[in-house]
Amino acid sequence: MIFPQYRARRARASENLRRMVRENRLSPDMLIYPMFVTYGKNVKDEISSMPGNYRFSVDNLVKEVKEVESLGIPAVILFGIPETKDETGSEAYNPDGIVQNAIREIKNACPDMVVITDVCIDEYTTHGHCGVVKDGKILNDPTLELLGAMALTHADTGADIVAPSDMMDGRVGAIRVALDDNGHKDVAIMSYAAKYASAFYGPFREACDSSPQFGDRATYQMDPANAMEAIREVALDIVENADIIMVKPALPYLDIIRMVKTQFNLPLAAYSVSGEFSMIEAAGRNGWIDRDRAMMEALLSIHRAGANMILTYFAKDAAKILNG
Ligand code: PBG
Repeated sequence: MIFPQYRARRARASENLRRMVRENRLSPDMLIYPMFVTYGKNVKDEISSMPGNYRFSVDNLVKEVKEVESLGIPAVILFGIPETKDETGSEAYNPDGIVQNAIREIKNACPDMVVITDVCIDEYTTHGHCGVVKDGKILNDPTLELLGAMALTHADTGADIVAPSDMMDGRVGAIRVALDDNGHKDVAIMSYAAKYASAFYGPFREACDSSPQFGDRATYQMDPANAMEAIREVALDIVENADIIMVKPALPYLDIIRMVKTQFNLPLAAYSVSGEFSMIEAAGRNGWIDRDRAMMEALLSIHRAGANMILTYFAKDAAKILNG
């Protein structure tokens, strides 16, 4: 294979040839749509830093899920914004909380929709941390109990998959035990296995009003400088019986997605987070980039890196393009 006898451009000469040699393709099958559910009735409140994304009350959420389903997207992941927050995030494990009610209503209206729930107390706590706080420290082991209780209320109301995003040590194992001991052997765990302490969560925290009120998340989320540590984190969650592992964020961590894909054979998800969405959306709105092309290229690159599933705020728009 040497020029001039070999010419790489031959395989790119026409659209049909390019179709024939194409290595990766996106499909709505691999998309997971993150949705925000809040209290009240008939609420559809646009998130200012994430245009086109809303905080929905349960009634409007269900309508939106029907549309998501009609686009061929198989799964949604739910985040709750409760009416009241407290020190221990008790709304997170209230059997009649907003996410629990949302799960019931979605399952009533769209029984085939795969319902994933975020398991983490930060949206429900006054201090905004993902764990129990004492004397300014985030306590690991007492948090596990709350996470188990939260996951259980989600499973009880019909969640198919629970997704712990807190980064406490031992939480996948603790949740597995809580589920198995209470008759939920078939509920799967998608673990946010390698979750970095990232600036790209900014718009999400605005959406949920969940910024930590003191300090940051660096004692539990991973240092962006580390790659080998991601392998250790993923290995730990697999030992604790995670069914699906996740890398988060996605675009600034494509190397991590590829490494995890090469080393482990579990289904791999990547979370293209709020800041990744907002950057592309904002540049598109300014006319600085072609928003749709940039969106599809970003998603394709995450899939090419090795992700089988992509959690993305672009899910609906990408599915519309893929459906033609
Ligand atoms: C924690 C959680 C966060 C996100 C998902 N789950 C925020 C955080 O860790 O501060 C971020 C998702 C996004 O930015 O899109 N419950």
